[in-house]
Amino acid sequence: MCGIVAYVGKKQVYPILMKGLHRLEYRGYDSAGICIYNRNRLNIYKRRGKVADLEEFVSDKDVSGTIGIAHTRWATHGEPNQCNAHPHFSQFADLALIHNGIIENYQTLKKELIKQGRTFYSETDTEVLVQLIDYIRMKSEVSLIDAVHQALSQVVGAYAVAIMSKESPRTLIVARKGSPLVIGIGKDEFLAASDATPIVEYTKDVVYLDEEEIAVLSISPKGKPKMEITNLKNVKKVPLIRKLEMNLSALEKGGYPHFMLKEIYEQPKTIRDSLSGRINIERNTVALSGVIDNKEKFLKARRIIIVGCGTSWHAGLVGEYAIEELARIPVEVEYASEFRYRDPLIYPDDVVIAISQSGETADTLAAVKIAKQRGAFVYGICNVVGSSIARATDSGSYMHAGPEIGVASTKAFTAQVGVLVLLALALAKEKKIINGSRMEQIIKAMYELPGKIEQSLKQNGAIADFAKIFTYSRNFLYLGRGYSYPLALEGALKLKEISYIHAEGYPAAEMKHGPIALIDAEMPVVVIAAQKENYEKILSNIQEVKARQGRIISIVSEGDTEVKALSDFSVEIPQTEAMLMPILACIPLQLLAYHIAVQKGCNVDQPRNLAKSVTVE
Ligand code: F6R
Repeated sequence: MCGIVAYVGKKQVYPILMKGLHRLEYRGYDSAGICIYNRNRLNIYKRRGKVADLEEFVSDKDVSGTIGIAHTRWATHGEPNQCNAHPHFSQFADLALIHNGIIENYQTLKKELIKQGRTFYSETDTEVLVQLIDYIRMKSEVSLIDAVHQALSQVVGAYAVAIMSKESPRTLIVARKGSPLVIGIGKDEFLAASDATPIVEYTKDVVYLDEEEIAVLSISPKGKPKMEITNLKNVKKVPLIRKLEMNLSALEKGGYPHFMLKEIYEQPKTIRDSLSGRINIERNTVALSGVIDNKEKFLKARRIIIVGCGTSWHAGLVGEYAIEELARIPVEVEYASEFRYRDPLIYPDDVVIAISQSGETADTLAAVKIAKQRGAFVYGICNVVGSSIARATDSGSYMHAGPEIGVASTKAFTAQVGVLVLLALALAKEKKIINGSRMEQIIKAMYELPGKIEQSLKQNGAIADFAKIFTYSRNFLYLGRGYSYPLALEGALKLKEISYIHAEGYPAAEMKHGPIALIDAEMPVVVIAAQKENYEKILSNIQEVKARQGRIISIVSEGDTEVKALSDFSVEIPQTEAMLMPILACIPLQLLAYHIAVQKGCNVDQPRNLAKSVTVE
């Protein structure tokens, strides 16, 4: 759960590395470091804190040079301090290495290396890897690349690494297993990074390294570039060059104070993009190529198991309701972290759907691997193109939400829900269990979504105003029924992760079984009451809260009077189909969390202890 970026070429490397680190800072922001070759040596500078702290620290240092590696860290082994920050040196500062992932057997390797006379300065698993490579190189008198091969063959765990050496100051070695790594091929230059964001402004030609692959990227003294890829078994591979579709403006804040707000406001477009080409209102059809290509697998599916984590898991719950309602296939939704370790029953006629914005979440990736090993057909719903989960699944649908940089997931959630409803509709169509007029209603409602999201966003000012009142609340309860229940969970997650206010989401009827004891005048209760189904029931839940002096913030449908009358604050959203309502109702929930966090002075884009991409379990 760290970000790595590396460059070799003709340009000055420092600005490239720093810009890259800023783009990758969403992956970890507790310490950062760089290594640049100049004056015949590897020069490492690192700092606890953010990339900006590192920048300030190196402002008076000589950072000239045309090859370098850089890292932004989210600590796993050892606290986030300067010593544990990457890059790490080998014993005599001949090699420098950055790493994303976890070396699980590092303690055993470390003990052995200490016996062989190696000294360690940090508590990290990463330092063990660089020392191991160096030890093998010196003891066996093999080339650096051979030593990297041998060392990585001994390693258990996950890694994306970039290595540079004093002896070959025009060569970078990068490798990956379980953590992502993309190589950019520019004009007489190479870049490598955890994702494509540090690369896109220099080149659109990229190679995604596969599992257990190692690439040697070098520039000859005459400036000629050379890339060689082998795997751990020493088999050579011809690189498959792909074109990046990312555009640079998606990586900037574009005038918004935070990425999170920008991404909330992007939702009319992202929903349009994720539905575009997949529904056709004139012909009243839905076409999801992943479903069409694998029709047989879906038609014979005895059940669907959806796996994901956090917000993606919440989207999965909406998917469960929609698939069961429209396609009448039994669905189970599981936390990927539970699924992977509980020896689940999986049958060859199961379809497993893995949902992940980043496509890199370690638990979800592991769940995909288990499901595949046990013969299930695995379908991915990912945002990041070419990500590990997208590649590990048998087929899938991209969300097309564009890069999501704010750590709190916003536009990815609505895109996930959009794709899941599409999937439910496509399955219902393939099973021939939906009639034309129902299909038309849902497709029409989908077409109207972008405009209705725009309308929901107009409530921003009012939400910002009443958010001020709740800045000092210590607890929040979120309630919903049916399609609103996953939203209650999602609303609570958004608030707690960015404002550090304790919040819980519950199915409204569960309140009586415990949480009602918490309600008093100090407890704001957010009720998502925007659907017609069970309206009377949610109304009585609200009355139960009011009777105990709880304060109600409600999300209601346009034209509502009864819930509004009982609420202290209400936000109206346009009416839509029940299964699409989460896409509209989550807009005010996202804005409420955002404004409370901003009022509290929290760093909404980089909340404490979190990182965007959870590549460790
Ligand atoms: C919450 C959030 C996380 C992620 C979770 C899964 O706002 O962002 O809960 O949803 O870490 O991440 P992905 O979807 O990348 O697998």
